[in-house]
Amino acid sequence: MIEVYPDLESLSRAAASLIVTQANLAVAARGRFSVALSGGNTPRRTYELLAQPPWRDQAPWDRMHVFWGDERCVDPDDPRSNARMARETWLDHVPIPGKQIHPLHCAQAPAAAAREYEAELQEFFADGPPCLDLVLLGLGDNGHTASLFPGTPVLEETGHWAAPVYVAEQDLYRVTLTAPCINQARVVAFLAAGTGKAAVLREVLHGPRDPGRLPAQLIQPQSGELVWLIDLEAAVRLTGEPF
Ligand code: 6PG
Repeated sequence: MIEVYPDLESLSRAAASLIVTQANLAVAARGRFSVALSGGNTPRRTYELLAQPPWRDQAPWDRMHVFWGDERCVDPDDPRSNARMARETWLDHVPIPGKQIHPLHCAQAPAAAAREYEAELQEFFADGPPCLDLVLLGLGDNGHTASLFPGTPVLEETGHWAAPVYVAEQDLYRVTLTAPCINQARVVAFLAAGTGKAAVLREVLHGPRDPGRLPAQLIQPQSGELVWLIDLEAAVRLTGEPF
């Protein structure tokens, strides 16, 4: 499902409402809500809104468990840290119990951190499949999502839920949830905004299947729902013109 919003602000308000709605549905059905957060810039405003009324007053914070879809392997206080961004904008301002926030610390040893994160997820899901209630994703202008970057070995990973990845163009290690893990989620929501995403969004959604070049195409929830929240600028190439 693709939802187009006039601008980033209205997209962010819709995303905040989606998160609160999914949280309340999950808590009503299973007593808890698990979400994997995206990093980057697009979700910042959504996270800020979640710390403000009305969203702040509507969410079951005490039943919420926060994971990350990916993390840069930098110190927690590094401006590039996805966990730092989420804490500054949102998590430090709402009463989620600290033990229910599961940051991914991989600054020292990416491979070991990926194994530890996978073990943490396996424990959380009591050795069943990683059915996160919600995974938030962004879309890079090169077609990556989470830290599933074009041409990297992690795109072929099927045996693990989390894996390290070296992003040469950034000279940076990251750890990411793998596509098979993300595809177990009950809901996967992509947030994409701005003209810079229009071309890649058109390729991902309407172009030929080429997940090695466009890893976002790997995201096809096994039984869950896939929703794209985009703004008009990102949607501008999604007209009916033949691909
Ligand atoms: C990250 C993100 C990444 C992001 C895209 C889009 O750690 O960088 O998880 O997948 O979602 O790069 O980033 P923007 O929202 O900044 O365009």
